[in-house]
Amino acid sequence: MTKGKLNIGIILGSTRVGRVSPQVGDWVKQIADKRADANYEVVDIADYNLPFLGTTDGTDSGIVAWNKKISHLDGFVFIVQEYNHSITGALKNALDLAREPWNNKAAGIVSYGSTGGARAAEHLRGILGELLIADVRVHPTLSLFTDFENYTTFKPAELHFTNVDAMLDQVISWSSALKTLR
Ligand SMILES: Cc1cc2nc3c(=O)[nH]c(=O)nc-3n(C[C@H](O)[C@H](O)[C@H](O)COP(=O)(O)O)c2cc1C
Repeated sequence: MTKGKLNIGIILGSTRVGRVSPQVGDWVKQIADKRADANYEVVDIADYNLPFLGTTDGTDSGIVAWNKKISHLDGFVFIVQEYNHSITGALKNALDLAREPWNNKAAGIVSYGSTGGARAAEHLRGILGELLIADVRVHPTLSLFTDFENYTTFKPAELHFTNVDAMLDQVISWSSALKTLR
């Protein structure tokens, strides 16, 4: 990690056994690392063993560690998969389990699903507004039919590489601007 650079978390939105999100997150990180304009890291919700909101007193080590991680980040790329036309319960719970640590930061969305995960991504945009996260416009949408083999092996089409770069341009400029507010 380089001091003085922005810290951008690439947050995997799914936690199920057999998920494809790590492939997508690693791909975004590879593109991002070539830019060398920020410290990029994949943040896996599954690593935090987060309890469902309200089922504990909130002092669990996982919730504390999650809030610490989000506080440390200046911006986010959400890897979003469509579950029943929305985001996963795991991502919604992880969003609900922090509050101020999300505020006044920027985010991009990379989504996938049968229609590119567009419905889930639009739901996420509504939630991000409430958390004072500024979501950027460029939004790479990956198709389960054409960007994955057998819905499981990620083989992204060429155009998505350019889109991820354009999305990151916006995340970096807004993350940098919003840092001055905090
Ligand atoms: C509970 C559930 C609901 C789903 N609903 C949708 C849906 O509404 N629209 C869609 O495009 N794909 C839907 N899918 C397919 C997922 O987008 C696909 O399985 C994707 O790989 C899930 O991401 P993951 O592998 O990272 O968990 C659903 C999958 C699951 C497990």
